[in-house]
Amino acid sequence: MKIGAIVGSLSKNSINRKLLKALARHAPVEMEIVEIPIGDLPLFNRDLESDFPQAARELKDRIESCDAMLYLTPEYNRSIPGPMKNALDWASRPYGQNSLGLPSATIGASPGKLSTAVGQQSLKQILLFCGAPVMGQPEGYLQFEEGLIDDEGHVANPAVDEFLEKWIHAFGRFVAEETNA
Ligand code: FNR
Repeated sequence: MKIGAIVGSLSKNSINRKLLKALARHAPVEMEIVEIPIGDLPLFNRDLESDFPQAARELKDRIESCDAMLYLTPEYNRSIPGPMKNALDWASRPYGQNSLGLPSATIGASPGKLSTAVGQQSLKQILLFCGAPVMGQPEGYLQFEEGLIDDEGHVANPAVDEFLEKWIHAFGRFVAEETNA
């Protein structure tokens, strides 16, 4: 089971990439998680579609080589960050060649009390519009505090660690059900 992961943050200190590392540590043995980078994509412009940019082609190829997708999103101003939306727009094009229809799940970390709940709602709506079956439960809204997850994905709070383990295994079951359906 090959899972592509898109982190919607370009920060080298991204808490959402730490979250990805923690999930990868708990992934079931049959699951391989590969991060798909989005930082080199040009800003989407439909004028560029006739000579489709190499970085966008690679994004689509990488997504299409996976069985399912995991989207780890920060929340910016109660929505998803521009780089995430930009990547989704490129991956959905050219018209009729949308690459986003794979089984998908969203999760996200933020220091705020609502975490990324509102941003993920927006992300789920985009993915559903683009034909992706999206995991409904369990939801994953991580309120991040300093030191919660280190750079290797070790989680300081045992309850959070256990939740993340359960969450990634639930995603594995969701993908298995969707791909065998
Ligand atoms: C934020 N942040 C934020 N947090 C949140 O919970 N809800 C929000 O609407 C916003 N809005 C927002 C806008 C902008 C422009 C910035 C820069 C930040 C804070 C955000 O959650 C925090 O910076 C996280 O660390 C971002 O995730 P990464 O980049 O560390 O993965």
